[in-house]
Parts: sequence; structure tokens; C-alpha cells
Amino acid sequence: MKRFLTGLQPSGKLHLGNYFGVMKKVLEYQYNYDFYLFIANLHSITTFQDKNTLLENTYSAVCDFLALGLEPKRCTFWIQSDVPEVTEITWYLSMAITHDHLIRAHSYKDKVEKGIHPSVGLFIYPVLMAADILTFDTDVVPVGKDQKQHLEFARDIAETFNRKFGEVFKIPEPEIDEDTAVVLGIDGQKMSKSYNNTINLFDDEKKIKKAVMSIVTDSAGVNDIKDPDSSIIFSIYSLFLDESERRTLRERFLKPGLGYGDLKKELFQKIMDYFAPYREKRNEYLNNLDYVEKILQEGSRKAKELAQTKLKQIRNILGLERQ
Ligand code: ADP
Ligand code: TRP
Repeated sequence: MKRFLTGLQPSGKLHLGNYFGVMKKVLEYQYNYDFYLFIANLHSITTFQDKNTLLENTYSAVCDFLALGLEPKRCTFWIQSDVPEVTEITWYLSMAITHDHLIRAHSYKDKVEKGIHPSVGLFIYPVLMAADILTFDTDVVPVGKDQKQHLEFARDIAETFNRKFGEVFKIPEPEIDEDTAVVLGIDGQKMSKSYNNTINLFDDEKKIKKAVMSIVTDSAGVNDIKDPDSSIIFSIYSLFLDESERRTLRERFLKPGLGYGDLKKELFQKIMDYFAPYREKRNEYLNNLDYVEKILQEGSRKAKELAQTKLKQIRNILGLERQ
């Protein structure tokens, strides 16, 4: 069975864009592949270093995954910083890529262009990512388009290392979902934390209602015919509907009698109902962090076992093991 591995940074509150854009798909991998998933908190600290927020976001990401259906028995699930063998491997891999090559990273260049004075940590971010992938003999890495170049670095690093020292690393294949639909925010731009236009899965009812009621609409009245294809509500509502329900909603747009206010209330209820069981589970996990810790320990134990074998092999090759 192919090994799939991916990492997600703990970035705070999940919104509909994160869920329908990536999480839903990631959760499916556990049923079809040997699936490895970790919370990339070491990558987060390249841009962000507040202790309490990081801890909170890390637990939040873990509980999000567990509540939304990740089954720890079906996959290996851990927190990146719990397997420090990978950071040691990062050091060894940093010799398998040149400064000239790494400086071409788009994400790094973008940050520099924005005026950020980059740390060395930010610069070698892709090397840590390569170590995340290569340590575990990963076959396939599902990532978003923005991570495509980082995957190429990982492959280059593996090839350079293998050329020098023999077949140590598997060359990973990216799986880039080119046609992931972009989930629209309440203002019609891409839904994103940075645009302040999100509907968050687990916010309290009041906040979700406020966000849904602020979805931007045109000025069509109840008795006007409305265009579903240019409608932000139609687009967001559709996330929760199957084909035939979507057709029915489209017909409602095309007939007089549909008021945006009522439709928003309906959508709000739909969102609450859809996530209610997940919300309940999430609260159970958050109130039972000892149990969550056990899951994470088991995950890092499994990840560590592989990482230690790979680390020993590399140390041996490099002349760092003395019996
Ligand atoms: P944000 O833009 O809110 O900061 P992140 O960058 O933390 O979101 O995104 C985490 C993951 O969710 C990424 O893989 C990203 O591609 C996906 N994602 C974020 N927003 C959307 C969206 N509006 N539609 C589809 N996928 C999204
Ligand atoms: N850099 C990735 C992101 O920001 C997260 C990540 C870290 C990752 N290590 C990884 C993704 C290894 C895939 C494989 O989205």
C-alpha cells in the first residue's frame, strides 16, 4: 500500500475554506493508504512565536482532526516537534542543497519582498519540510499548489543525497489538486483568515449567524428572478448540498418568492446542523486532553520508530556512529 504523508500548520480557527478545500479530502486518505499526518508546529514558529497561542492552536488543530473523523488507528498522527530525529535529519539534508538553489524559493522571496527580514530558519524551511517527507520513505505527498516548489526541493535533495551516498531516500511524488474549488468568503473573495471574511466551523452560534447574515448579496427583491451563478450565498450553500438539492436551490433562485434574508437564516441552520455532531465531539476531546495526549504519544511512538531507523542509517553513512 502506498504511503501518503502530509503536514498542516496549526493556524487557528478552521473555516469552511479549510474544511471543504483540504480537510475533507485529507480525512479520506486514511481509508485508502498507509497514511501519515502531522501538525507542523516547527514550521509555524518560523513566522510566529507566541507560546500560549501556539499551544492553543496546536491542540485546536489536533481536536479538529479527531472530531472531524480522523481515526488514530487507521493512520499515524503526531505533532512534528515530538519527533526531533527529523530536525537532526534536516541538518544532514541541508548539505544536499546549495544556498543558490534554496534562495529561489517563491514563498521565501515573497516574504523578503514584503519587507520581512528573514531568519535563517525561514530560509531553510523547505529543508525541514524535505526531512519531514524523506524520513518516512513517503511515496506520495498531497499538498496545495502553493507547496509545489517545496516538493521539488525535497525531490532534488533526495536525489543529490542518493547520488552521493546510495539509495537512502525514496523520491516522493507530489499530489497536487489543481482543481480544488476555491471556497468563497462572505464578501465574495477567496475565504481566508487574512481577508476577515470567514465562516468558522466551531465559532459560537452568534458569531456564525453574524457572519452568515453579512454575506454580500445583490439588490434583487423577493419577487425578482436571481442569478445563482453569481451569487455568493448560492456558492456557499452548495457546499452542503448534493447534486439534486443543488438543482432544487437553483430553481428557487430562478423563480419569484425567494428572499435573501430567509435564505441566509436557512443556510445558518444548515451550517449549525451539519457541524453539530463534530462540535460536540470536539468539545469532548478538548475537555479530555489526557486522552488526546495518549493518542499523540502513540502516534509519535510510531513515527519515532521509523525516524530512528532512518537517522541511524544516515549517521552511519556520514561517519557519525561509533558503535
Ligand atoms: P488562510 O488563507 O485562511 O490563512 P490557510 O493558508 O491556513 O488559510 O489554509 C490552510 C489550507 O486550507 C491550505 O491548504 C489552503 O489551500 C486551504 N484553503 C484555505 N482557504 C481556502 C479556500 N477559501 N478555498 C479552498 N481551500 C482553502
Ligand atoms: N509547509 C506546509 C504548509 O505550510 C506544511 C508542511 C510541513 C508539509 N511539512 C510538510 C506538508 C511535509 C507536506 C509534507 O502547508
